[in-house]
Amino acid sequence: MNNYAIILAAGKGTRMKSDLPKVMHKVAGITMLEHVFRSVAAIAPQKNVTVIGHKAELVREVLASQSEFVLQTEQLGTGHAVMMAEDELAGLDGQTLVIAGDTPLITGESLKNLIDFHVHHKNVATILTAEADNPFGYGRIIRNDNGEVVKIVEQKDANDFEKQVKEINTGTYVFDNKRLFEALKNINTNNAQGEYYLTDVIGIFKEAGEKVGAYKLRDFNESLGVNDRVALATAESVMRRRINKAHMVNGVTFQNPEATYIDVDVAIAPDVVVEANVTLKGQTKIGAASVLTNGTYIVDSVIGDHVVVTNSMIEESEVQDGVTIGPFAHIRPKSVLGKDAHIGNFVEVKGSSIGENTKAGHLTYIGNGQVGSNVNFGAGTILANYDGKNKYTTTIGNNVFVGSNSTLLAPVTIGDNALIAAASAINQDVPTDALAIGRERQVIKDGYAIGKPHHPSTK
Ligand code: UD1
Ligand code: CA
Repeated sequence: MNNYAIILAAGKGTRMKSDLPKVMHKVAGITMLEHVFRSVAAIAPQKNVTVIGHKAELVREVLASQSEFVLQTEQLGTGHAVMMAEDELAGLDGQTLVIAGDTPLITGESLKNLIDFHVHHKNVATILTAEADNPFGYGRIIRNDNGEVVKIVEQKDANDFEKQVKEINTGTYVFDNKRLFEALKNINTNNAQGEYYLTDVIGIFKEAGEKVGAYKLRDFNESLGVNDRVALATAESVMRRRINKAHMVNGVTFQNPEATYIDVDVAIAPDVVVEANVTLKGQTKIGAASVLTNGTYIVDSVIGDHVVVTNSMIEESEVQDGVTIGPFAHIRPKSVLGKDAHIGNFVEVKGSSIGENTKAGHLTYIGNGQVGSNVNFGAGTILANYDGKNKYTTTIGNNVFVGSNSTLLAPVTIGDNALIAAASAINQDVPTDALAIGRERQVIKDGYAIGKPHHPSTK
């Protein structure tokens, strides 16, 4: 039978105290809503309907073509939210997964198990539940003496006896699609919050003598509903532990996985060593046997094999095999570092391509450079790429040797094998094989220092 999914994402998330809608907050690099969508994909729904409301356009943008959208202009409760999907789904045969956009830790595997359980038991409704040490805030699963689910009671409506119950509603359910929309016609707002509760359909089914069940998660962590920033941080740490564990299983060494921050889409090859306090964000890829030391921060970059990055930052760049970087280097967007290049301490590279085996060991700025292979930059080289208004390119051939503390004033082109004398200011092209000296000739005045204030003769 067909599967459908309804994702609830219309709420503001008042307790987040945020300008952003709650489901737009990120966990391990992607929004909570995207996490939910990735899990929902495991049940391959024929149709996804996302209920949006608060800042609807923002939410619509993240999901774009992955979902259909219905607007809930007033947030009158979770039951009311599901009713908004009626036009999209009501007449269809099959089962419908309803899931909240604020439960980013529920796995696709659990959703598949939930559907299988529901179909196997021929239920009209199956609730995904979990056993909580501290159930405060969640809806409680109320069972009769035979252990059958009778209803769900919200925290604010629960009596003292019901508050003792530790089995909670995760906010995820599977329903017979047609019966869901029929039952929703009978819910009302007679409760502590004056809202239309989706959870009330459970009692309605039970009273009509229909089969209601619960599928209990083994791991309470999966059920975490993020209502405030405290829970957001908890979700983040659970997700990171999961991500890091998967990398370890795949052959990555972590010095301290508790202190390593890796986004969900990062790929790491085997035999990589990741020291503590490393952050890998976005669509980053790390090649085999590379080493990332303490303090390294990499965003949306592709790193080759056998690369060593020592306490450095790399953004939106490509680093080829065998490159060594740092400590304290900054590789800024749109840079390509060729095989075996070396970018040493206090070197900044921006929008530049660096050829194979080229070295910039110390205190250098390479901005908008097209640099060949086997080039050596002396300490303190600056590619002066900016005139206050426009950026210009410096082109450097192969095997060029740039003496220390030289400034190359772009646009300028240096031919292959050229030699730039130390402390030169170069503002004209340098031909292949040439020596360029761009500084005043040194002057010597014999004995001129004697009698000056610094000189021992005056002390
Ligand atoms: C809900 C459940 C509770 C469960 C908990 C699990 C109800 C009545 N209660 O409570 O039993 O234990 O989730 O996390 O369903 N939303 C809308 N429109 C609305 C109201 C909510 O789209 O009018 C969306 C929210 O954006 C959110 C989700 O529904 O993504 C859940 O709403 P929330 O207010 O967080 O429900 P809880 O109070 O946590
Ligand atoms: Ca919630």
